[in-house]
Amino acid sequence: MCGIVGYEGTREACDILIDALSRLEYRGYDSAGIALLGQGAIHIERRKGKVEELRKILDGASLKGSIGLAHTRWATHGAPSEKNAHPHRAGDVVVVHNGIIENYLALKERLKKGGHVFVSDTDTEVIPHLITDYAQKGGSFVDSVRLALKELKGSWAVGILKESERTLVAAKNESPLIVGVGDGEYFIASDIPAIINRTDRFIFLEDNDMAIFRGRDMRIINVEGEDVVREVRQVRWSTEMAEKGGYSHFMLKEIFEQPRAISDTLLGRTREEEGDVEFEGVVLPDLAAVRKIWMVACGTSHHACMIGKHMIETNLRIPVETDMASEFRYRNPIMLPGDLFIAVSQSGETADTIAAMREARSRGASTLSVCNVLGSTLAREADNVIFTHAGPEIGVASTKAFTTQISVMFLLTLHIGRRLGILGRHDVRERLREIRAIPRKVRSVLDAAPSIRAAAGRYMSFRDFLFLGRGINFPTALEGALKLKEISYIHAEAYAAGEMKHGPIALIDDGMPVVCVSPADRTYKKTCGNMEEAMARKGNIILISDDGTHEMAARAAEVITVPSAAYELQPILSIVPLQLLAYYIADLLGTDVDQPRNLAKSVTVE
Ligand code: F6R
Repeated sequence: MCGIVGYEGTREACDILIDALSRLEYRGYDSAGIALLGQGAIHIERRKGKVEELRKILDGASLKGSIGLAHTRWATHGAPSEKNAHPHRAGDVVVVHNGIIENYLALKERLKKGGHVFVSDTDTEVIPHLITDYAQKGGSFVDSVRLALKELKGSWAVGILKESERTLVAAKNESPLIVGVGDGEYFIASDIPAIINRTDRFIFLEDNDMAIFRGRDMRIINVEGEDVVREVRQVRWSTEMAEKGGYSHFMLKEIFEQPRAISDTLLGRTREEEGDVEFEGVVLPDLAAVRKIWMVACGTSHHACMIGKHMIETNLRIPVETDMASEFRYRNPIMLPGDLFIAVSQSGETADTIAAMREARSRGASTLSVCNVLGSTLAREADNVIFTHAGPEIGVASTKAFTTQISVMFLLTLHIGRRLGILGRHDVRERLREIRAIPRKVRSVLDAAPSIRAAAGRYMSFRDFLFLGRGINFPTALEGALKLKEISYIHAEAYAAGEMKHGPIALIDDGMPVVCVSPADRTYKKTCGNMEEAMARKGNIILISDDGTHEMAARAAEVITVPSAAYELQPILSIVPLQLLAYYIADLLGTDVDQPRNLAKSVTVE
């Protein structure tokens, strides 16, 4: 999704903005642009393609200016091109935007009739025109911005620069935007990693906030013109956490960070002595009255929900319904007041998930979000929030967010189980021992990376993969297939192993490797039967299992053995080799692993 950065201070803004923009590249984009205000006029440069292209033209230009905005665009309205790249300008107002203006056509028609001339195909361009339109009618700059923003329907985070008044405005509605507070300087950004090397103090703007920067002063008002006070919060992510640290890609670094990330998820929450789990500040509603738990998310986070469902239903016998956020919202779900709605999201900014949580709240559910990003919309809006503490996830393909989400769900199951008296102290103590061992076990899977890389070399030229798993392993198969298709662009689909014979078996031949996620759990024998069926049709089996001695292992084309863990935790160990397999195949194919084509890290449009 689009990335916004801005600067207002005493230093030269150009390098600061380009550095911040390059730290947002992980969000996914197709063009980039910058606006700098020096002593005279605003200077704008835009390029299709990478930030590097923009940097090249700026290097020779030695542009001066201590106020500016920059932007990476992920095309929604209008093709990726220089004319559609941001910033967009009307009069002396320049705008960068993330989100979608749903009523832009009507606004554009009206403005055109008033004499405004448009030069791009974007929805964004209506914003500077609308502001200048209000200004032409006599409004002050801030009032013109306010009135313009009030007219917009949809989601927007915007940076607005006014040349004649040397004023910068940052405003948002349903798209993220933060302010970084430095010493005598301010930064704006779509996400923390963009400016974590500049400051550790942040203001998380709320919907309809407008931060106005003028002559080193900042004031925050809402679109009604009322002053609002927002807390400055400290974020303890280090600069190194948002850098590659010697790894060739963020994704690989993040895969290898999983032992530490899972340990951090557990930190301060487990009470071994009492056999309990506590989440600071979390007060769940009357759990005995909860008839149903809902777990709703998108993509990888949705797969984590499917695993969470197994955990809660198996251990607590409370019905759990999972859904993709984009589906949940529009299917008129039958919720009862008091149901517990859990929204799961790495970014906390996924538009579909936010909309689903709002829908659930309007139907009387109590809301809990499981998020990675402090200050994100889902974290702020939910009645309760549990942070995954995975650290910044920069690679577009989600890895450590997934395994820490599963870890949170395990802890949450124990927490609820204890509160309802379903799990006893001894039970929970035993389970805590199991999850404590997981970081060490993940480390031992990571030790097998060289042999997984070798296997990747043997399979990189196949164009179709089938992933199979049963029970709690089915979401792992879905996640393994998602990883492969996202970053290598190889077609991969996942099926519940028992479903294979109802259709996908028709595809199997020696050109389609079949990845079977099959630890020696209660579904093992059945999945072995499915592997037999695939092998009978010349399918090459890649087996991920904790049982390397089974005769199936001897007959599979590849076996990746992982340590054994409790049934509910095995997915953490099974997914790591699949993350590595996808990573190494993509890397060998030479794709853009951290910023795969067409994908965005934080999907802030519906
Ligand atoms: C997959 C991936 C996406 C996200 C999805 C939800 O690797 O990254 O499928 O999982 O867009 O994002 P969050 O978790 O930020 O809500």
